Amino acid sequence: MNTIRDVGIVGTGHYVPEKVMTNSDLEKLVDTTDEWIFQRTGMRARRVAAEHEACSDLCINAAKSALEDAGMEAAEIQMIIVATVTPDYMLPNTAALVQDRLGATQAGGWDVTNACTGFLSAFMAAQGMIAAGIIDNALVIGAEVLSSILNYQDRASCILFGDGAGAMILKAGAERGRALHLTSGLDGKQWEAIQRNAGGSREPLSHPIIEERRHLMSLKGRDVFKFAVNKFRHLINTSLEETQHTTADLALVVPHQVNQRIIEAACGKLNIEMDRVYINLDRFGNTSAASVPIAFDEVKRAGRLKEGDLISMVAFGAGLAWGSALIRW
Ligand code: UT7
Repeated sequence: MNTIRDVGIVGTGHYVPEKVMTNSDLEKLVDTTDEWIFQRTGMRARRVAAEHEACSDLCINAAKSALEDAGMEAAEIQMIIVATVTPDYMLPNTAALVQDRLGATQAGGWDVTNACTGFLSAFMAAQGMIAAGIIDNALVIGAEVLSSILNYQDRASCILFGDGAGAMILKAGAERGRALHLTSGLDGKQWEAIQRNAGGSREPLSHPIIEERRHLMSLKGRDVFKFAVNKFRHLINTSLEETQHTTADLALVVPHQVNQRIIEAACGKLNIEMDRVYINLDRFGNTSAASVPIAFDEVKRAGRLKEGDLISMVAFGAGLAWGSALIRW
């Protein structure tokens, strides 16, 4: 097992719940306006899971679509990695539920908890295992039901997020989507910037904690904003420099759908025009770990990927963590 093999993308898929929550719907819940949300974030709507839909339900739909795209059977999958901060249960991992319901009987699997960076972390882990010859393929999913952990009394956070799932199948030897550069980083000093305090071993759930809504998400938006603009630029610059490319070589950036202003500020400084940047946050908001794979699947299905295209995927979020993948289509 000492081979280093090429790894490519053979299938992608995504799923978003049917229910749409618009900015006007949020006006009825918190003190906000459609105008404020759109001007500050670029978001107009997001999807919200139905009562019967949990994380694994979204995963299954995205995974089936990726399997169909790859022309593969679930039983061929050797590894399932689910990136999520909103699993069905605290135990077991969501990958187990996905494996069972998909019938991916040969697959190992686990979950990755790295918030908005989670999909790229899972993508990187799968790349490494396939390249090393440990496995031949992997189903990598980013999926979130953030509506289950949002504080719909906190206007600073609840307006930003939506539910959804995106999936990718990676395979040894595949030609398209080979990674030229992968990065993963973490600045633990900023761990308080995005939090869901209670429900873990530090603050186990109790009635007072739930009454204070400490089991729900909160964030320091302005701090994350500055971090995200800088990190976005740094990730793209580093991956291009270290592979002897320039921004002119980039066909497309598929960024974490954090905020239109963050993306525009970073791309403006990089001299990347917005027609080379894929945006769907106006329709789906920020879906955390699902955001990059949903966007990538939309791009692929729209026929925007051409052979030889250089594509950058970048993400950042709670931790504060970050990740990037520069790939060749
Ligand atoms: O993927 C990682 C997770 N995502 C993030 O962490 C989000 C990153 N940050 C952001 O996207 C932006 O910082 C926000 C969209 C969250 C906020 O935009 P901002 O331009 O940084 O606004 P701000 O937080 O500085 O707030 C400006 C004002 C404040 O009022 P005062 O103090 O100026 O009177 C807020 O209280 O806007 C107020 N405000 C709102 N007003 C209406 C905050 N949220 C809202 C709201 N509706 N929903």
